[in-house]
Amino acid sequence: MSKIVLDVLSGVIPQRPPVWLMRQAGRYLPEYRQVRATTNSFIEFCLSPEKAAEVTLQPIDRFGFDAAILFADILLIPMTLDRRVWFEAGEGPKLDPLSADDIADLEIGDVEAILGPVGETVSILSRQLPGQTTLIGFAGSPWTVATYMIEGGGSKDRWNARRMYWQHPEAMEKLLDLLADATIRYLVMQANAGAEVLKLFDSWAEGMPPRMFNDVVIRPTKRIVDGLKHAGIDLPVIGFPKGAGTSYRAYAEQTGVTALALDHGLDAGWATANLPAGMPLQGQLDPAVLGAGGKELDAETDRIISAFSNRPHIFNLGHGITPDVPVDHVHRLVKRVRGTS
Ligand code: CP3
Repeated sequence: MSKIVLDVLSGVIPQRPPVWLMRQAGRYLPEYRQVRATTNSFIEFCLSPEKAAEVTLQPIDRFGFDAAILFADILLIPMTLDRRVWFEAGEGPKLDPLSADDIADLEIGDVEAILGPVGETVSILSRQLPGQTTLIGFAGSPWTVATYMIEGGGSKDRWNARRMYWQHPEAMEKLLDLLADATIRYLVMQANAGAEVLKLFDSWAEGMPPRMFNDVVIRPTKRIVDGLKHAGIDLPVIGFPKGAGTSYRAYAEQTGVTALALDHGLDAGWATANLPAGMPLQGQLDPAVLGAGGKELDAETDRIISAFSNRPHIFNLGHGITPDVPVDHVHRLVKRVRGTS
């Protein structure tokens, strides 16, 4: 059976774009909350293959999305460098903050064993997904993961991570290289278990001078793309340098990714004029519009479909769906994209 997401990633322009949504498995779905409530720790939940596979399939069953994204989290990878990660309710991720001195002692552990359960989730999914649904594996990009490791969690402006780049460039380079190398092994494992597309989330690619963007975003991303090829993995890679603005162009030209996920702040006209001809683009509905629903949701959906109608395009949000979004709005969106409303 042909898979429309894979077709688009190979350059095909279909009549209507395929659709899936970032964070499509999550707290806006009652059936997610029900399964989630069976495990206290979020990390343990991510490392429970049966449950992770079950919640991955929920939005496919409910909405018939064209792709399923593995349920896991970008913050599992620090565990392969022997760093603790935990989630506190209402506060998000927590880690022990990392200093330049700490980085000198870091080494990569047994990635395939520590994250083995994620490989098991992918195997279950590749057996259970409907034949037309594409299975997307993913990882965080080194810079975004590094910011959480250095700050010890989320932060307002990632100040300590940004300062470390300028103050201790060799420590930053080592950390990014270790993360890239652990991520290559993690993605190879996902590919061997049945992932058909790989996506790299660089949620904090915004707000840095070009030289820094090159060093912390482009270079580590290219290291991963090259490393996958070297390991014999030839899957399409979607890069998501969120907030990169005009630096999306250098990212597109230099990292070797197959396709780009666009955030909702990037001007669609600029994107079509400046990003490499024929490169598949994914995005870019503002999640707040999905939250609002109604006529504005229809109008923004139509605008985005028409803006990218001359390109291979996968419809998606510009960032993850939020827990407050009514399920009806998602149904309305999917019908609109499919042209059935
Ligand atoms: O997209 C999907 O459906 C697949 C699963 C997925 C999750 N997180 C599940 C999750 C993916 C791809 C991610 C990526 C992720 N995780 C990113 C990159 C994308 C982005 O949103 O920028 C980042 C930065 C993280 C780190 C992370 N994980 C944070 C900051 C939080 C807390 C935020 C919150 O809303 O509480 C998480 C937790 C998390 N990851 C949840 C889910 C469904 C919610 C926690 C829960 O269910 O208890």
